[in-house]
Amino acid sequence: MRMSSSLKGQVAIVTGANSGVGRSATEMLLQAGAHVTMVCRSRERGERALAELRAAGLRGVRNRGALGGRLNEPVAGDSGGAGVDLELADLSRQEDVRELAGRLASRLPAIDILVNNAGVTRPQCVHSPEGFELTFATNHLGHFLLTRLLREGLEAGRGRIVNVSSRGHRSGDLRRAELEDIARGQAWDGALQAYADSKLANVLFTLETVRRWGSRGITANAVHPGVLATEIWKKTSLGPRLLLLPFTWFMSSPDVGGRAVMNLVEDPSRDDVTGRYFHVLKEQGPSAQARDESLARELWERSVEWTRG
Ligand SMILES: NC(=O)c1ccc[n+]([C@@H]2O[C@H](COP(=O)([O-])OP(=O)(O)OC[C@H]3O[C@@H](n4cnc5c(N)ncnc54)[C@H](OP(=O)(O)O)[C@@H]3O)[C@@H](O)[C@H]2O)c1
Repeated sequence: MRMSSSLKGQVAIVTGANSGVGRSATEMLLQAGAHVTMVCRSRERGERALAELRAAGLRGVRNRGALGGRLNEPVAGDSGGAGVDLELADLSRQEDVRELAGRLASRLPAIDILVNNAGVTRPQCVHSPEGFELTFATNHLGHFLLTRLLREGLEAGRGRIVNVSSRGHRSGDLRRAELEDIARGQAWDGALQAYADSKLANVLFTLETVRRWGSRGITANAVHPGVLATEIWKKTSLGPRLLLLPFTWFMSSPDVGGRAVMNLVEDPSRDDVTGRYFHVLKEQGPSAQARDESLARELWERSVEWTRG
């Protein structure tokens, strides 16, 4: 397996790292010499991915920490260079996110790369423990809370945030009802709309992060990773699955998404690239609503209220 050292010693966190884009990005970050903390919600799937990464023979890759959740006791091992840890957290549960952020902050005083990648679609309107529609709670609120709680670490490190959004954000419409009603599922209009709304929230959050934190040396970009053959489509409802069926032939490998993430973090000469939206490797303008500063401000302020512990 090809190894480079372009990110040697850098500290990276990837959410949803056991599968699809997150798994691929983790592998590429490790190959580039970064130390990666994988955030996964399932111990079984996280441990399996970790074992496979190690079995793939990534030189220098060690499991430095026992696995995740409240059992994250360090084990003896190398503490420098490439390595991989696994943390367990369900991003739709704010208590999990707070505990995760606490563990990360105590272990990683400086964070170079944060890849907010985990994502779901839900066939029906179901709710998180705090009463938010689950797609919105996972894809937007969980990452919003995690990122805010890691701000000091991001400031202390290279502070590159990549938010994995989707071209589907263009169908998102966070003006179609009160934000509160969208967030709580009272304005539920099907799985695809909920997904698109959450992906629009990813872009709005990216651009507002830059407006609020840009002067602190933190950068943020959003990316559509491609139309990829990953698990996400298998978890949605039958309607969208049938709609997507003809396209499955044209879906790309998750590595296309992994490379789209790497494109935004690997090259230090691009450290001033911030507040942009990329369609895989190519910069594009995001939707008009994604560029709506008053909507971004409102979403940020409401998200602060909704994630107040
Ligand atoms: N695939 C595409 O064509 C496509 C297109 C545009 C955008 N995207 C975006 O790409 C990102 C990655 O998706 P993917 O295609 O790689 O799908 P995937 O293979 O299903 O991966 C999604 C990852 O997110 C994790 N996850 C889901 N809910 C979570 C939660 N509550 N807490 C923590 N982790 C959670 C999943 O964990 P489990 O394995 O436990 O479910 C999995 O590791 C998503 O943000 C998605 O919106 C994908």
